[in-house]
Amino acid sequence: MRHLPVMGREVLKWINPQEGHLYVDCTLGGGGHTKIILKETKGKVRILGIDWDEEALEIARRELKDYQEQVIFIRDNFKNLSRILKQQGIKKVDGILYDLGMSSLQVDNPQRGFSFRYPAPLDMRMDKRRELTAAKIVNEASESELEEIFRKFGEEKWAKRIAKFVVRERKISPIATTQDLVEVIRRAIPSQVRYKRRVHFATKTFQALRIKVNEELENLNEALEDSLNLLSSSGRICVISYHSLEDRLVKRKFKEAHGKQIRILTKKVIKPSREEIKINPRARSAKLRVAERI
Ligand SMILES: C[S@@+](CC[C@H](N)C(=O)[O-])C[C@H]1O[C@@H](n2cnc3c(N)ncnc32)[C@H](O)[C@@H]1O
Repeated sequence: MRHLPVMGREVLKWINPQEGHLYVDCTLGGGGHTKIILKETKGKVRILGIDWDEEALEIARRELKDYQEQVIFIRDNFKNLSRILKQQGIKKVDGILYDLGMSSLQVDNPQRGFSFRYPAPLDMRMDKRRELTAAKIVNEASESELEEIFRKFGEEKWAKRIAKFVVRERKISPIATTQDLVEVIRRAIPSQVRYKRRVHFATKTFQALRIKVNEELENLNEALEDSLNLLSSSGRICVISYHSLEDRLVKRKFKEAHGKQIRILTKKVIKPSREEIKINPRARSAKLRVAERI
């Protein structure tokens, strides 16, 4: 499945790309946002595109083949942004974009284990070079660690019971696949609660594991810190987040730096239009925050 860039029009408006300027797309994915910026500026900007997922980079390279001269592709964790720029001999950039989380290319790839909808090994690594997988956590973490992960990263009210059931089940046989885990969660959450939930009963546990496997909050925290330092004066940072843990982190970081390093431009968070959500339901939880370097 193709990945549709979320809030493409809004990102373009807020990044406000100018000819000759240099931008960083820290979450290149399928290259959707980068392509929008390149099209709008008729390729008269340079973009450094970072992603740690080699499949994403491969697709982005194909999608952006008409702009080979303008894009530098880098496979790395965006938390290394300072080092990446240094290696490229770049001191400051004119805009930085984060479109966090996963792309449809990742979620809809049944083999990667992100989705409870497809049977697959419990993997969930965006960067396959990393060692920690969801299966390792589920089968090796202690009951209290599991409870904390499900509560902290999934805001799952039934964290304690799910952790208990996971530990009980894995003594009988390892929880190796997405379906194994869905089954354990199904048994842990009482049916009257399951049926009342607006989202699938496994959503929160799967989100929690994905965040833990990919250290999403730690990466974002470090990356935001560096990003503000690397922006040139009047350079903008745009961050699209997809769950409240991420959004709270962005909001807090921006607030701390407001008036010192940056000026917050989006006093009210920006959300996708109803029309966009209709076309692309994955956009429904997206929130965009923008700040400008002073
Ligand atoms: C929502 S997608 C981006 C989609 C892209 N904006 C587009 O329109 O095609 C997020 C991407 O960020 C990447 N990503 C997430 N965390 C990362 C990190 N810490 N370092 C590098 N890439 C990361 C994922 O691998 C994924 O490809």
